[in-house]
Amino acid sequence: MANNVTVDSVRSFPRKVEVIGVPVGTTGAIPRQVGLSRATLNTHGFHGRVGQTLTVPSSSGPTIIALGIGDSRKATVATVRRSAAALARAASGRASVATSLVDAVSLDARAAAQAAVEGFVLASYRYTDLKSGVENPAVSVALVATGSRAKGCDSGVERGRTTAAAAWTARDLANTPPAYLTARMMADRAVAMAKESGLDVEVFDNDKLAVMGCGGLLGVNRGSIEPARMVKLTYNPSGKPSGSPRHLVMVGKGITYDSGGISLKPSDASHANMKMDMSGAAAVLSAMSALKALRCRTKVTGYLMCTDNRPSGSAMAMGDVLTFRNGKTSEIHNTDAEGRLVLADGLSLGTESKPDAMVDIATLTGACMAALGTKIAGVLGTNEAFIEQVKEAAGRADEPVWQLPLERDYRRSLDSNVADMRNIGGPYAGAITAALFLSEFTGNVPWAHLDIAGPMSVDGDDGWLSRGATGFGTRLLIELALNFTKPKR
Ligand code: BES
Ligand code: MN
Ligand code: ZN
Repeated sequence: MANNVTVDSVRSFPRKVEVIGVPVGTTGAIPRQVGLSRATLNTHGFHGRVGQTLTVPSSSGPTIIALGIGDSRKATVATVRRSAAALARAASGRASVATSLVDAVSLDARAAAQAAVEGFVLASYRYTDLKSGVENPAVSVALVATGSRAKGCDSGVERGRTTAAAAWTARDLANTPPAYLTARMMADRAVAMAKESGLDVEVFDNDKLAVMGCGGLLGVNRGSIEPARMVKLTYNPSGKPSGSPRHLVMVGKGITYDSGGISLKPSDASHANMKMDMSGAAAVLSAMSALKALRCRTKVTGYLMCTDNRPSGSAMAMGDVLTFRNGKTSEIHNTDAEGRLVLADGLSLGTESKPDAMVDIATLTGACMAALGTKIAGVLGTNEAFIEQVKEAAGRADEPVWQLPLERDYRRSLDSNVADMRNIGGPYAGAITAALFLSEFTGNVPWAHLDIAGPMSVDGDDGWLSRGATGFGTRLLIELALNFTKPKR
């Protein structure tokens, strides 16, 4: 669905604007535009805390919304993103909004402006494609920045448009029901997006995948009447590379619907959310679509591993053994542990190109959600320096991650009597045993794995998260690529 939010960087308040968001801190003077004293604001429950808003009634002129920014000297990009989201929600239904949020914080103007755009746009997100007669209302937002902050605001707005649009697209893809986004359709979308955003793209069908020995993706696909697709995306930085060229591989789990297969899931709410099991692939695709506009200096290769996972007469059975691209074998003890099977082939292919680092992103385990909840993704991997880069990217994006240990001692729980490993471990530490499975396919490439099962969706609106798919990981991956350096091994 179209993103109907238009944000511009301007030098002064537009004359005809419906809403003005006036930043108010927890301390300091109340701007005159508000027209009320701090005591009066306090009486009405408004203290200037981040995310708080108070609509101030007036008989004429634009509606004034007092916009809490906390302690303005301590404002971070996350603060600005949250404040902008709060403004979007408080001003919802209005066609034009202006705010001096970027000028009100001591933060670098470019970073502040980018965060403001992200907050406003992403809080305005709705998936409306399948609601008859409903469209996202158009709103124009003016970010007022003056003097020395003007230039930074201009460039931050441009970057914010790009990053917010990427996350918006990832949400759209994940919110799309299974029948509207099969693996083939996902590949078609990827081809279209690649063309628009200057990426090279190659699509692999079942025949090609068979020749390549991608038995994991094909094994999961066996139960489906829809063919699988693997999409390889390549971003090559233009111009002459300065210094040695860097190369980052991203692999995304693209299960367009996870029924569990023969190990059928119960018909509960979480099963109904399994149209979002391609959120990892959506994050990789969307993130990569932003790299050219953001002038990323690192070469990035992406693999989207797409199929649905269904039970049928042809579905992989319990006890079946699959052979992956790198020659390793796995005995299937639960067809619902399918994500690791499709990622295995993607990671194997990624490893073959000897990149400087590899990251995968997947709605992989309920166990990770049990451990970290719905706000935080798990990160595990083989290289601390690279994991550190992932954590830093997560911090900048305000997409929180927490590291879990890749405990080698748990590897024995994957031991199989007939194959190199079973596809599930024991009853505990499911997020770790899943990552240990994946580590069998990463050779000696520095690797990090993001388990986004928890934060892939939210039940209700929450700041810049809008109910439904979150697009989690999209902006994290953008940050990771933009700031990537070769990790020490
Ligand atoms: N896609 C699911 C994991 C998931 C669960 C994502 C809830 C988002 C929300 C994954 O394919 C799965 O089914 N995992 C199993 C693994 C188990 C069989 C070892 C799980 O977590 O139960
Ligand atoms: Mn599953
Ligand atoms: Zn799954």
